Amino acid sequence: MLEPFNTPTEYFFLTKRQHLETLDTEYFEALYTTKIDPWNFRDSTYEQSKYKRSIKALKGDCYRNCLELGCSIGIQTAMLSQISDQVLAIDISMTAINEAKASCSNLDNIEFKVADITKDFPAGMFDLITCCEIGYYLNPMDLSVLFKNIDEHLSPDGKLLLVHWTPFVPEYPLSGDEVHDNFAEKAKMLGGYEELSNERHDLYR
Ligand SMILES: C[S@@+](CC[C@H](N)C(=O)[O-])C[C@H]1O[C@@H](n2cnc3c(N)ncnc32)[C@H](O)[C@@H]1O
Repeated sequence: MLEPFNTPTEYFFLTKRQHLETLDTEYFEALYTTKIDPWNFRDSTYEQSKYKRSIKALKGDCYRNCLELGCSIGIQTAMLSQISDQVLAIDISMTAINEAKASCSNLDNIEFKVADITKDFPAGMFDLITCCEIGYYLNPMDLSVLFKNIDEHLSPDGKLLLVHWTPFVPEYPLSGDEVHDNFAEKAKMLGGYEELSNERHDLYR
C-alpha cells in the first residue's frame, strides 16, 4: 500500500466515459443480434450465483404482481415466475423479448412486453419490482424519472429489488454505485422505505 509514496512520481490513469446519454434501442438490438445471450446469463456462474442470492434476499416471500424491468432473454424471469402469481417482464429489445418468450413458453404466468422504461413505464400496481443491472444504462435525469415511476407503481406493501454490476464500464453513463446511491437518497427523501437487505459482493451489490 505504501509503495506509491516511496517513489518520486505517482501516476493516475483516468478512464473517460464513452456515453453520457441513455443508451437506446439500437445499442441493445445490436448486442442481441450479434449474440443472443450477450452477458452469458444462461451459463455464467457469476450470473447464476447472483440470481440465487437475489431470490434469497426476497426471503421466501410470494408476490401477486411482479414487474421485471429489463428482463433480457428471460432467465431471471423464470425464477421470478416461481415466486409470483403474475409477472410482467419488459425489455427495450424485441430480439431479447422473442428469445425470452421462447425460453419461458412452458410458463403461463408471464407476460412479456417490448417497452422502453424511460418512455413507456407500464400501468398498474406491483408488489415486487425488480431493477437489476439496468439503471446504469440511463442518464441521471432518466434515472430520476425511473425512480419516480417505480415509487408510483410500487404498492404500499411492495418490495423493490435493486442489483447492480459495480466495476466501472466506460460505455455506461452511470456506475452501479451511482445508481444505488441515487435510489437510496431518493428513498430517504420520500420516506416510507425500509432497507431489508444490503449485500456487496466482489462484482455486484
Ligand atoms: C444486463 S441486462 C440485465 C438482465 C436482467 N435484469 C438481469 O439482471 O440478469 C440489461 C437489460 O436491460 C434492457 N434495457 C436497457 N435499457 C432499457 C430501457 N430503457 N427500457 C427497457 N429495457 C432496457 C436491455 O435490453 C437488457 O436486456
